Amino acid sequence: MILPPHLTVRGGHLRIGEHDTVELAERFGTPLYVTDEMRIRKNFKRLSGALNDYYPDIRVLYAAKANGNLAILRVLASMGAGADVFSAGEVTLALAAGMRPESLLFNGSSKSPSDLALAVEKGVRVSVDSLDELRQLDRAAGAVGKTVDIAFRVNPEITVPTHPKIATGLATSKFGIPAGDILDAYHQALAAEHINPAGIHCHIGSQILDVEPFAREVDVLIDLTGDLIDIGVDLAFIDIGGGLGIPYRRETDFAPTPEEYAGAVMPVFLNGIRELGIAPELWVEPGRWLVADSTILLTRVNSVKAAHKTFANVDAGFNLLIRPAMYDSYHEVFAANKMDACLEREYSIAGPICETGDILAEDRLLPDLAAGDIIAVLDAGAYGFAMSSQYNSRPRCAEVILSGENAGLMRRAETIDDLTAPMEIPPWQA
Ligand code: LLP
Repeated sequence: MILPPHLTVRGGHLRIGEHDTVELAERFGTPLYVTDEMRIRKNFKRLSGALNDYYPDIRVLYAAKANGNLAILRVLASMGAGADVFSAGEVTLALAAGMRPESLLFNGSSKSPSDLALAVEKGVRVSVDSLDELRQLDRAAGAVGKTVDIAFRVNPEITVPTHPKIATGLATSKFGIPAGDILDAYHQALAAEHINPAGIHCHIGSQILDVEPFAREVDVLIDLTGDLIDIGVDLAFIDIGGGLGIPYRRETDFAPTPEEYAGAVMPVFLNGIRELGIAPELWVEPGRWLVADSTILLTRVNSVKAAHKTFANVDAGFNLLIRPAMYDSYHEVFAANKMDACLEREYSIAGPICETGDILAEDRLLPDLAAGDIIAVLDAGAYGFAMSSQYNSRPRCAEVILSGENAGLMRRAETIDDLTAPMEIPPWQA
């Protein structure tokens, strides 16, 4: 059993930070997301430190979509992070967390008129994903007499070793402007009255366990930056996105460290800017690497069933953690109240949702399980709660955050009333 340092075992119970997970499950109920704030702080320091060792002008924009809870955004804001934001909600939350507008980048391939107006109003830079969007943004800024700093999102046409649903820099991807069309896009930005082309942006995908594609990406961006200098664009920042993966299978996954990541991308970046004679800020947009391993999902066994395989039916399903169902993702599971017990048989951990695909973990060797046992699902901090739903009319669970001895709610559990509150009886049914 390999555990990250903030997860330990005492008296047969799994602990997170300074807390017994079984006690947390009793106190707050299950299902329950539990986040160790200290782990996020450590992760942030390590990743930003690895990059800063090469270059002082690094800006870390946390990918807020990974986990948008206000408490988490506040932790990262307090460390100096900005955010990659993808919606009006994320802009609003990041600002509420204390992040400055100029430390945000409004990303996305399908922004609405109100999204663009919000960016202009708040002074948030925009990663522009099409020429159509550029024209709309120019008009929105012109309407209020402002100028907006933008980057174009480049599609570098780089294949990455990850699940096809989270590879974003493929030629066929919906994201970005093909690298071959980028110069024309900047020409149009230079000609636009209310647009200042201040940066260039790229994101090649997520859960990437090889550093080489990142180095190639930086190489593409440096080449383009050189071409941009020739047409008179003076870039203040180069944003290389996020995507660094984590070892969900701790026993067997090889995952690059932040130092290895920095060791691959920074020399390419530094040589490139030296040759070009420029010193732009380097922006990165990590999501998963900062928050995934900070969080576990605690779920209680409702019943055990021996069928063609043995199912442990638990109270959390893909309503709360959709990654296994959506990407066949692997998450380590432990019996949190039986950490010292012998591993006896293989269980499939099945959720309460009315779908065959509602399996959190398949065929895992665990101690004998019984109703009432607590299963901990690891590495649930990124794209876990953030992708949850109320499917099957199940209220979402609570989220707890820990800081040293402190344990408190960062989101209360929803109730049945929360499900029905936004519903309306149409007048003809009244
Ligand atoms: N920047 C942009 C523009 C992005 O689209 C993303 C993630 C990131 C940064 C952060 O990537 P990260 O460092 O977290 O890999 N739901 C999927 C992942 C979707 C990623 C979406 N974009 C999953 O659960 O694996």
